[in-house]
Amino acid sequence: MKRTHHCAQLTKADLGATVALAGWVDSIRDHGGIIFIDLRDRKGITQVKFDPQDDANLGARAAQLKPESVIAISGKVVVRPEGTVNASLPTGEVEVNATALEVLNASDTPPFPLDDAGGDKVNEDLRLTYRYLDLRRPKMRKNLQVRHRATKAIRDYFDAQEFIEVETPALFKSTPEGAREYLVPSRIHPGQFYALSQSPQQFKQILMVAGVEKYFQIARCFRDEDLRADRQMEFTQVDVEASFVTREDIYALFEGMLQKLWRDVLGTEIRTPFLRLPYHEVMNRFGVDKPDMRFGLELQDFTELFKTSSFKVFAATATGGGAVKAINAKGLADITQGELKALEDAAKSLGAKGLAFIKVEGGEWKSPIVKFFSDAEKAELTAKLNIEDGDIIFFAAAEWERACAILGRIRLDAAQLLVKRGKLTIRHDDWKFLWVVDFPLMSYDEERGGYAATHHPFTAPVPEDIALLDSDPKAVRGQHYDVVLNGMELGGGSIRIHQPALQKKVFEDVLKIPQDVVESRFGYMLKAFTYGAPPHGGIAFGLDRMCALLCGTTSIRDVIAFPKTQKGQDLMAQSPTPVTAKQLKELHIQTVMPPEV
Ligand code: AMO
Ligand code: AMP
Repeated sequence: MKRTHHCAQLTKADLGATVALAGWVDSIRDHGGIIFIDLRDRKGITQVKFDPQDDANLGARAAQLKPESVIAISGKVVVRPEGTVNASLPTGEVEVNATALEVLNASDTPPFPLDDAGGDKVNEDLRLTYRYLDLRRPKMRKNLQVRHRATKAIRDYFDAQEFIEVETPALFKSTPEGAREYLVPSRIHPGQFYALSQSPQQFKQILMVAGVEKYFQIARCFRDEDLRADRQMEFTQVDVEASFVTREDIYALFEGMLQKLWRDVLGTEIRTPFLRLPYHEVMNRFGVDKPDMRFGLELQDFTELFKTSSFKVFAATATGGGAVKAINAKGLADITQGELKALEDAAKSLGAKGLAFIKVEGGEWKSPIVKFFSDAEKAELTAKLNIEDGDIIFFAAAEWERACAILGRIRLDAAQLLVKRGKLTIRHDDWKFLWVVDFPLMSYDEERGGYAATHHPFTAPVPEDIALLDSDPKAVRGQHYDVVLNGMELGGGSIRIHQPALQKKVFEDVLKIPQDVVESRFGYMLKAFTYGAPPHGGIAFGLDRMCALLCGTTSIRDVIAFPKTQKGQDLMAQSPTPVTAKQLKELHIQTVMPPEV
């Protein structure tokens, strides 16, 4: 039986035609001996009827069918009796009166319901173990389609702009300066390793030296990171690099791409140019470098105010070079003890010593610390934080970056509590795009006791600041930019260093990488830069994250066909696994198991 139509195709125009359909038994109903089957394929559903009065044997076979079995049927298209029309289906006015049935594969009972609501309720591990069933759910099927649309729109966009897609190796060399790498042992070179590429960064710069000028790639990247909802060990970047460009060119290029994506995939017009905010301002106002700007609850700074406070905790921090910041969680004075404790725990996990707060109820400031506040302090707090009855104010006193991070987290958590109470609305399709710019080129790593590149070591400093590289690396601004959407870092990039002397200086004098290490890791790049390297810059975008936002889901696992769990496991095929002694021997590898804990 060769199928003649798909399951979303037949309408009244096909009445009387003899057709053949194939697909999955979505549901089966017995109405007084007449069997109705909703037959499903990737396009939709068609109702098939088996009437035992027409063919008793066929009717009996149909009655035995189990949901999710794969069948082929043929029969005649007939109109549905009045009152049984399903207006929500394109095929809802007709049904197929089956005259033949072939069971292609009988299904066991699935371990969880395959409708959207039913599947959403089960444990994700179960969905991942039976991913082939999970992907049959309408929602997951739609997610795969959105991802395809998005990828196609991206390829079309860059092609139209005369970019060419170039593939770069997944097996690269180890240059451990970013995230932890996956190492791959070489069989032919005992004791030597490749590293799986964390990003095509170095290759795309080499392609600029090669004269490609406009490169892009939908590239798989590998990072041995702790996994989260927005992080996988292998993920996909939309990677771009271009020669003779400025930051403005990259902003316009990427805004154009996002605009096309939102238009092609969602039919939504997004406004460009995007807002741009400097890193320091973003941190001061939102406490993170990837702010969710769909709601307010902004941080306010009170460092100056509390320098002379009689509340010693705040005064000591303020005079000792730290910051005192506060946030008004508007209308959250009805916070429960449990919720408050959770906020405190969150603050402490970020290194807070405590989470001082003021509850404003019945015209009264309720707080263990309010007795220390002067009238002038209260007045400034009230004015800057717009304090009203029903509010709760949270404080953080710590080093600037930590104080920002603590209240940045409290801001997000408090917003969720307000959403839960119906006091705040955050819509997933309220698209608040933002460029974060003016990052410092270097940040000081207290633990290591040295400077580290804020983005990566290939980022170019702002030309006016180059002179500061020796005297005050912290003050040097980088030509780096991140694009953020609704609390998620979608992408980041920079204008690069293209002069070998400056690149060598950053490696050796600022990052203090020993000369021989620089030579062995990056020697080839520095050499390439001595043969006519054009000025260049680029950006990389997390395709998984972008698709998650387009699909309105918070987990990138929902837009990856076969993701790993938080523990880095593939529950369906079951990896990782031990390998044989023979395989290890061939690779010149011995394993040492950690002691049992
Ligand atoms: P960066 O490291 O910022 O830049 O990565 C770019 C974007 O990739 C996405 N991303 C991830 N997505 C899922 N899982 C992960 N583990 C993960 N890690 C990163 C994020 C991020 O914004 N070569 C530079 C870019 C450049 O300078 O051009 C780079 O890789 O959305
Ligand atoms: P203490 O005087 O240490 O009992 O602190 C009084 C209140 O301030 C308590 O609620 C603490 O949780 C809080 N607190 C202490 N240190 C800090 C800090 N660095 N930032 C914010 N709140 C703090």
